[in-house]
Amino acid sequence: METNKTTTIRPSCAKATAGRHLDPPAPRLRRAGTSTPRHLDTSTPRQLDPPSPRLWRAGTSTPRHLDTSTPRHLDNSTPRHLDTSTLLITGGSGFIGSNFIHYLFRLPHFTGKIINIDCLTYAGNPLNLTEIDEKYGGTRYFFEKVDITDHAALKTVFEKYEIDVIVHFAAESHVDRSIAGPAAFIRTNILGTFNLLELAREKWGSRRDVRFHHISTDEVYGSLNEAEVEAKFKEDTPYDPHSPYSASKASSDHLVRAYFHTYGLPVTLSNCSNNYGPWQFPEKLIPLMISNMLEEKALPVYGDGKNIRDWLYVDDHCSGIWAILEKGETGETYNIGGENEWTNIDLLNVLCEIVAEESSKAKDHYKKLITYVKDRAGHDRRYAIDCGKIKAELDWTQSVTFAEGLRRTVRWYLEHPEWIAAVKSGEYLRWIELNYDKR
Ligand code: NAD
Ligand code: TYD
Repeated sequence: METNKTTTIRPSCAKATAGRHLDPPAPRLRRAGTSTPRHLDTSTPRQLDPPSPRLWRAGTSTPRHLDTSTPRHLDNSTPRHLDTSTLLITGGSGFIGSNFIHYLFRLPHFTGKIINIDCLTYAGNPLNLTEIDEKYGGTRYFFEKVDITDHAALKTVFEKYEIDVIVHFAAESHVDRSIAGPAAFIRTNILGTFNLLELAREKWGSRRDVRFHHISTDEVYGSLNEAEVEAKFKEDTPYDPHSPYSASKASSDHLVRAYFHTYGLPVTLSNCSNNYGPWQFPEKLIPLMISNMLEEKALPVYGDGKNIRDWLYVDDHCSGIWAILEKGETGETYNIGGENEWTNIDLLNVLCEIVAEESSKAKDHYKKLITYVKDRAGHDRRYAIDCGKIKAELDWTQSVTFAEGLRRTVRWYLEHPEWIAAVKSGEYLRWIELNYDKR
């Protein structure tokens, strides 16, 4: 067995912590007033208030007892002793996976074990789990460096541990990389998921007190029309993926459902909107922009900057996953979202102000770095999640406001310059050159 043995990263820049006021700014107010480069439209941001979940519940969901799509022989079941279970987390060294592992060890009632399998691609970072490894390594936390596309290696993990729950995060996850090189997305996201499903079926047989939870994305639903402000992705929205990334995730979602319907494998799925928070690799919008600001580099906005995303603080995604494991019904899909839609340019203006404030710069210091660049191919215009189902059925809700989440995230990056430096390896620099330098 292999375990992480890494050195703890200590924040060298602790200035943003003690004594500072923690009041969040009011992004909604700021959004209307943020400065936008002159040559671009300065229209007021759209009305982004969330609709009432009740409207959705009345309009679209089928009451569960009337749903005829679930085969009769499949009983609903929850992992019997979830708090003492052994959880296999795939992709646990990536952004959301590592946050989920931290989240689990913070739960006072969770006394179970975690097996993290991750092949440590550019996005997987053992440093994300240094503290966990130091505290629980070899007793309640075990790391296995395994590629989920390698069936034989994966099988040894299934033979070595008694696994009760699988939470499947491992994926190639960045849309731009899927455009530049889709093959790895097909391998990991589709074949890797297939391997896990096969091994789970083989290992668990007819056990129903187990769970395979598949982590997916709102991007499988395609793109919403920005003019139809009330439209949102629901669990029954037809799939219409547009990028190799979302197509590969859609494919894996279908496989997971097929294993439920065909073999009775106790699965649940969640499709979540854009996450942000600590330990996110700086290729995604928010950490890329923070990291560029700290280096006084250009802030590259694709197209007109008006694409809309629904942002959720990563801990709230983690609590949604836990709620599904605890209370979710097998065979069901739950959408998780922030009910927090922002155009990229409005978000960036707010982020510039928070980073400026946190690093004692003038309010507009970073805004001058905003640079419009060539759009992403097939760039989805708008994502928005209707998360009425998980709220109503599992009593889940978001707990971190965008203002608070952004500030926490900015502070985390300011306090962890070593982490940023460590992930900016040769591979990272090659990606930046490929995606931005000749754009
Ligand atoms: P990430 O890219 O930060 O992490 C992915 C992890 O998977 C990395 O640790 C990587 O090393 C590992 N991995 C990749 N290929 C592997 C393989 N073949 N075998 C073993 N490990 C492998 O991704 P993330 O942002 O943490 O996303 C995690 C999951 O959540 C993904 O399934 C993604 O589709 C989904 N998701 C992400 C978001 C988001 O905003 N980031 C939103 C919704 C859903
Ligand atoms: P990203 O974080 O890559 O997530 P996703 O594409 O999965 O939603 O991008 C979020 C939004 O930000 C998306 O509309 C693309 C845009 N974007 C930029 O404008 N510039 C960038 O450099 C990046 C990485 C993203």
